[in-house]
Amino acid sequence: MIDSACTGGLARPEGSAGRIRRAGSAHWLAVGAAVASAIVLAGCERTETVQRGFRGSGMYQFYAPATLAKAADINQIPEPEPVDPPDPEAPALNEVFSNVQVLNDLTVLEFSRLMQALSTWVAPEQGCDYCHNPDQLESDEKYTKVVARRMLQMTRDINSKWKSHVGDTGVTCYTCHRGQPVPSGIWFANSGPRVSSPALGYKASQNVANVHNNGMTSLPYDPLSMYLSGGDEIRVQSNTVLRNGNERRIKDAEGSYALMMYMSNSLGVNCTYCHSTRALARWEESSPQRATAWHGIRMVRYLNNNYLTPLASVFPDYRLGPEGDGPKVGCETCHKGSFKPLLGVSMLGDYPELAGPMGERPAAHPPAAPPAPQASVAPAVKGR
Ligand code: HEC
Ligand code: HEC
Ligand code: HEC
Ligand code: HEC
Repeated sequence: MIDSACTGGLARPEGSAGRIRRAGSAHWLAVGAAVASAIVLAGCERTETVQRGFRGSGMYQFYAPATLAKAADINQIPEPEPVDPPDPEAPALNEVFSNVQVLNDLTVLEFSRLMQALSTWVAPEQGCDYCHNPDQLESDEKYTKVVARRMLQMTRDINSKWKSHVGDTGVTCYTCHRGQPVPSGIWFANSGPRVSSPALGYKASQNVANVHNNGMTSLPYDPLSMYLSGGDEIRVQSNTVLRNGNERRIKDAEGSYALMMYMSNSLGVNCTYCHSTRALARWEESSPQRATAWHGIRMVRYLNNNYLTPLASVFPDYRLGPEGDGPKVGCETCHKGSFKPLLGVSMLGDYPELAGPMGERPAAHPPAAPPAPQASVAPAVKGR
């Protein structure tokens, strides 16, 4: 439960080993930049501390109520479309439609309901016409329809093949789009500033202020091309002795840290959500969320390499980045500042058609998971 800033006290999440601290105590100095910016903005606001690791390991999460309230706003989900009772008289899908290539395992009623939902999720203002020529619904003349068809395949693919990351919660178009044709938190390759004068010097792909994707640091400014479409290894320490090919360079370390800043910001957490900062590399001391994140990194690479990058040729020029590459997915595209997208609420119960192709998806409409209570924002690990 969150009271308003400054006036009310903060309730401690039930059952957690949480403690309450005031912003501004010396303790904060040790905290990573993601949190530091939250503190500066928090002003007189109280923040909440939740212990996540064993006592003494320094694994705390800090939450500012205003940030949590904002997250609650963007994580509202639209009312599910009403479900029509099955109609045994209804004609088969392929008798009425002529160009259905992906959703051909649905009934006509399921199909129409899903089209309605697609409009609400992706283009609520323009509706059906955003993807269709209204006089010829079977035509693929609009690029948006061609993209949407790949997106249908991608969504089913995520939900059936990437349970290691999305669990049974899964995703729908709304997870990324939230009522906008172009989702927030997409990214493009960034080759950095055009250096117009030699006096500005060699930037070494870094040392540029104001770059969102590295947490506004002087670290390399395009960690996402390195790690979320490219497959560079995310390492700081070498695990072999020098003679056996110790190939870690300072640059690898800087790039890895830049990615970690991006990941933390995308989820609205600090490093200790996943790591014990005493030994960042050690899996034995990391939280289970780090393993989920590991699968997430692989999933994002897969989505970019199999769906988004190949789609670049379908998008019109005005949708491409400054380097001419297509829009890509990152952690932020789904998470949008929350530890779980939509705070962990699943929409798949209402739309099992997107859980995967028939045969790979649950038969009935199981009820959606209840909204996550605030306390579960950071499930606390009790100290021993
Ligand atoms: C975000 C894009 C998008 C929106 C919005 C959308 N559709 Fe579609 N529609 C598609 C795609 C993609 C297909 C093809 C699906 C496939 O190949 O499995 C399709 C196919 C169809 C078809 C089948 C046509 C045929 O004969 O092959 C009909 C009918 C249809 N949509 C109706 C609608 C209606 C009505 C709306 C508005 C309520 C709507 N759609 C909104 C993307 C969209
Ligand atoms: C993992 C995140 C993600 C999911 C899930 C997702 N999309 Fe997208 N979608 C994107 C990205 C990234 C783009 C590229 C943005 C752009 O067009 O500039 C995009 C673009 C689109 C576009 C083109 C919009 C335009 O104006 O250029 C359509 C249409 C679309 N998606 C429909 C859908 C539909 C329908 C679904 C669900 C079946 C869906 N998307 C699911 C990430 C997602
Ligand atoms: C959401 C979970 C998560 C958060 C938050 C996170 N990390 Fe990581 N971190 C990972 C994962 C997963 C890997 C391993 C990536 C791989 O091998 O593909 C990793 C790897 C690393 C490594 C490389 C270790 C080695 O093997 O050399 C360092 C260093 C690191 N993280 C530091 C940080 C710092 C500093 C922060 C905060 C700014 C942070 N991490 C935030 C999940 C996280
Ligand atoms: C396609 C959408 C999508 C993308 C992209 C995505 N995630 Fe997730 N992530 C999810 C969903 C859905 C869940 C919730 C799974 C569940 O409820 O079990 C989740 C859960 C997590 C969790 C577990 C949180 C917890 O408290 O248990 C971590 C950590 C995480 N994601 C990290 C990442 C990182 C890091 C990236 C980028 C490399 C990323 N995610 C990209 C959809 C996504």
